[in-house]
Amino acid sequence: MANSNINKVKTHFLRTFEKGISSAYPYLPKHVLEVEKWANKLLKIYPKANKEILLLSVWLHDIGQAIGDKNDDHAIKSEKETLSFLSKLKLKPEKIKKVAHCVRAHRCRDIQPETLEEKLLAVADSASHMTDINYIVHLSDWPKKLVFEKLERDYRDVGIFPKLKKEIAPLYKAWKRLMKGYPDKI
Ligand SMILES: [Fe+2]
Ligand SMILES: [Fe+2]
Repeated sequence: MANSNINKVKTHFLRTFEKGISSAYPYLPKHVLEVEKWANKLLKIYPKANKEILLLSVWLHDIGQAIGDKNDDHAIKSEKETLSFLSKLKLKPEKIKKVAHCVRAHRCRDIQPETLEEKLLAVADSASHMTDINYIVHLSDWPKKLVFEKLERDYRDVGIFPKLKKEIAPLYKAWKRLMKGYPDKI
């Protein structure tokens, strides 16, 4: 049952992305797959976490990037979509609430992650950027300062689990060196 719900959510995310706004981050499905890898790695370290809640939230956390107004906070749009789609799957209201809260708090901005699953999603999201192409894609597109700020935020948020932050430090330093050497956008 848990796996079939995860598969339904995956399909819903991929369909929404395909039909969604064309200005959405083009590698979004690849990003979410990378977050899933990190979530599975973290689940081995924190086996008490609820796997279904975490993986459902992985596949829904950025769905808001593909819908609505690009300028609206995608965590809010993703939360709304999570509530609406999971209700159709007839999940228990308590579970829907937990997944929606993971999604809402994943950016560690106005709403902070509190439960274990909320923290694991936020950390898997941030850590995934260190092993993916996001920074390079953004460097070719955004002012370098903004990409640096994103790297710093990611490294800060991985610090929710200090041991992981230590493990990731060499990757963070390598990205920082690469960004320094990257030609400025004119
Ligand atoms: Fe996000
Ligand atoms: Fe994300």
